[in-house]
Amino acid sequence: MTFQPTPRQLTAIKAALFLLTLLPALHYAHGLWSDSLGANPIEALTRGMGIWTLNFLFLTLCVSPLRKLSGWHWLLRLRRMLGLTAFAYGCLHLLTYLWLDQFWDVDAIARDIWKRPFITVGATAFLLMLPLALTSSHAAIRSLGGKRWQSLHRAVYAVAILGVVHYLWLVKRVALLDPIIYALVLAILLGWRVVERIRLNGPWPTRSTPPAVQPVVFMKRDAAAALGVPKKR
Ligand code: HEM
Repeated sequence: MTFQPTPRQLTAIKAALFLLTLLPALHYAHGLWSDSLGANPIEALTRGMGIWTLNFLFLTLCVSPLRKLSGWHWLLRLRRMLGLTAFAYGCLHLLTYLWLDQFWDVDAIARDIWKRPFITVGATAFLLMLPLALTSSHAAIRSLGGKRWQSLHRAVYAVAILGVVHYLWLVKRVALLDPIIYALVLAILLGWRVVERIRLNGPWPTRSTPPAVQPVVFMKRDAAAALGVPKKR
């Protein structure tokens, strides 16, 4: 069933999605305020913000497969909000760590990043998220050009992999099952992309073979339009 929302419906969908993205933050804010986050609220908050960074990252990665399977191309118009929400939760996660966990002690933070590999991996994932968030605007897509923008934004796969490795590295302290489920979901999301690429290009893309994204994303002449960027008025 093809559903194509009108511009007004799309605005309503975006507004509803935006409100939904606030719910985890509100839940944790309420938990802090009502002192209901358990015996170690700082750890609960840090972990909560970490897991929601990963959740929103995964939701962002779900957009392309869902769009392809359903034919709902308008889903692409929600991807930026989901990606930026992942970044916002990543910032809150980092903030709780720097502020409530380490009290802005630069020496302790540097030692932690150096000595605890899971922190090193998390910090790398966060650093990789920065250029993605900074180039998420329509203006950045236009100035970089569709192809360069797409190449840069492939770093999202590295962010997701590092995020899951960061989570798996905590297994001594958290239940093993959860991070394994995240790793499996990520394998499916990335595996789907590999299969799509092979289906479109064949297993060994050559110089003359167009990039895999071309038939999907560059159907229109204007690359920015293909990425869901409205034209400049
Ligand atoms: C500088 C960046 C980062 C730092 C310093 C950091 C630090 C931490 C710390 C201290 C914990 C809690 C460990 C414990 O309970 O002892 C944690 C957990 C976690 N972090 Fe990060 N992190 C960073 C970036 C990220 C990023 C980018 C992601 C996601 C892509 C992420 C996802 C998670 C997840 C999923 C957990 C475990 C949540 C749970 O236990 O349910 N972190 N991180």
